[in-house]
Formats: sequence, structure tokens, C-alpha cells
Amino acid sequence: MTIRKVLRMGDARLLQRAEPVSHFDTQQLHALLTDMRDTMHALNGAGLAAPQIGVGLRVVIFGVQRNSRYPDAENVPETVLINPVITPLGETMEEDWEGCLSVPGLRGMVPRHAQIRYQGRDEFGALIDLTVSGFHARVVQHECDHLDGILYPMRIRDMTKFGYNEELFPGREMQDE
Ligand code: NI
Repeated sequence: MTIRKVLRMGDARLLQRAEPVSHFDTQQLHALLTDMRDTMHALNGAGLAAPQIGVGLRVVIFGVQRNSRYPDAENVPETVLINPVITPLGETMEEDWEGCLSVPGLRGMVPRHAQIRYQGRDEFGALIDLTVSGFHARVVQHECDHLDGILYPMRIRDMTKFGYNEELFPGREMQDE
């Protein structure tokens, strides 16, 4: 079990475009995913992208169980998504609050496509092809943005809706991601 250090905004590695994975079901890829899972769970994150631990590969994980920390969230099954392709379905955008393990303590209001199709592979190379909406779609878009060097503050339209958790949501325990 290895909990890796999560890079924080300002580290140039978070701004780079990650490279596609070319070989699946390898020891290296499984080891990377073990570290990513351990790190995400240790930090109670909803998702983690490989570049956040300094690995420039197009690999993300995400998953949320509805609980007291995510009272409004729907369940999102724990998913490994590699070399993802996102296709927005329709023009509708939705705004909602997001946080990020690379931007600890802060939260911002971010527009995302309300419904998307996402395709990719798992760590064994099996194809993934799903259509999702709402919170699930938001988490996927947030994580995949990391693969293109995009952090959520870059997408905030109204900078008055960006701030510290304690100030925005006094008395509420908030997660970073
Ligand atoms: Ni993030």
C-alpha cells in the first residue's frame, strides 16, 4: 500500500498533456492503479488522475458512495478509465461546486456538460462505453480534464463563486474532491 503525494496547483506537471497507455494488463499499470486507489481512498477523494501523482499517462479513477460527506451525490461505481474519449450529448451545461485534491481547501462553481458518453478501457484492456449524466458526468469530465492539463479553476466563469470551503460552507465538513 502506497499513498502517493498529490501534486498541488502550481506544479508544472499538472499542466502537461498526458500520454496514452499502449500496453494493458501489465505489472506497471496494475501497480500504478494500486497506488492511485490507495491514495484516493486515503484522502477520501471522489477521483484521481495519474498526472496528480506525477505520472503522465491517460489514466483516471473515480467512484463515490453516497454518504454523509457527499449527501447530495448519487452513487458512482468505482471505475478505472484509461485513454478516455468524452463526447458531449446535447448542448446543456450545468453549474455545480467542485473541489480537487490538487487544490486543497477550495471550491468553485464549474460548468460541465449535463450528459456525456465516455469510452475507454480498463486496466485489463476491456472496452468501456457508457452514457451518464449529472454528478457522474461531472466527475468524469473533471478527472479527464487533468489529462489535458486543465484544473477546474480554469473553467470557473464567475470568480465570485470560488473560495475556501470554510467561508463558502460554514459549519459543513467538505471534501477536497
Ligand atoms: Ni481534480
